Amino acid sequence: MLYSTAYLTQEFQIKKVVLITGASSGMGRQTAISLAEKGFTVYAGTRDIKKLQDIKNITPIAMDITDFKNIQDSVNFIYKKHKRIDVLVNNAGYGLVSTVEDVSEEEMFSQFNINVFGVFRVCKAVIPVMRENRDGIIINISSFLGKIGLPLLTFYNSSKYALEGITDSLRYELKDFNIRVHSIMPGFFDTNFARENLVTNKNTFDKNSAYAKLVSNLAPTIVEQINNGNSPKDVAEMILQIIQNDRFPARSTIGEKAKKFIPMRRELSDEDFERRVRESYNL
Ligand SMILES: NC(=O)c1ccc[n+]([C@@H]2O[C@H](COP(=O)([O-])OP(=O)(O)OC[C@H]3O[C@@H](n4cnc5c(N)ncnc54)[C@H](OP(=O)(O)O)[C@@H]3O)[C@@H](O)[C@H]2O)c1
Repeated sequence: MLYSTAYLTQEFQIKKVVLITGASSGMGRQTAISLAEKGFTVYAGTRDIKKLQDIKNITPIAMDITDFKNIQDSVNFIYKKHKRIDVLVNNAGYGLVSTVEDVSEEEMFSQFNINVFGVFRVCKAVIPVMRENRDGIIINISSFLGKIGLPLLTFYNSSKYALEGITDSLRYELKDFNIRVHSIMPGFFDTNFARENLVTNKNTFDKNSAYAKLVSNLAPTIVEQINNGNSPKDVAEMILQIIQNDRFPARSTIGEKAKKFIPMRRELSDEDFERRVRESYNL
């Protein structure tokens, strides 16, 4: 029997099972919506499934990425139903805004617990399923700040630098099992990130802090740039392209700030690059 290309494409997509973490908002939510519209079977991971009940044709699934048992139970549930997870999008994340001298143990552990260890936990649960099928795609939502430092964002930046390292190492580790690993480094995007997911340290933001000038120079600019950033639809579109193209680059930039700073980072010396960032952010 002969099938038209359109039919084959639709068939290919219907069979693909996708799991997205942090899917209640922003890039994760948009990706869930876009992939469901394209016919993928979408499991939208979240700490609060009520936040996803308004989206049609997706299955919200409990996914507290600090809790390995919760992750494993949800992965088992998907496996029982489909015997596969084809695509994992590690998207959940938040940003701590604190100086190094002010940070608490709890704040710094929590930043890495979500942005780094959370990714390890979800990968640990999903990889055996992908390996069994000898097929899979892992897409890590990193940041252009995974290659560029900024003051007050040391913890967030270093968590994203770590995520870049995870992508680089996992690509070797999983290659023989036909599992691709990719990193997307977005610039600033207009999501709920600045509104709900920037956590600020009390002492750093105190008006009498030794860093008050730096805070008042930088923090409002970052918030303003995120809230006026690119559309999360672009990220969802790039995720679709990665799924459909097995030759897609390992690492890709998206959004104005990433397109501006990442090539500059590659071309300039550390000192020259730092000068350009200082000029851009009035540091
Ligand atoms: N917006 C930007 O400018 C920007 C730029 C570069 C990279 N990124 C990265 O893009 C990813 C998505 O962010 P977004 O911009 O779409 O932000 P968002 O709208 O705030 O969504 C973030 C999602 O991450 C999850 N999350 C947040 N804090 C969490 C925590 N403590 N524990 C577990 N999950 C948590 C939430 O999921 P649930 O509430 O559903 O659990 C939420 O839906 C993040 O990894 C972020 O670092 C964002």
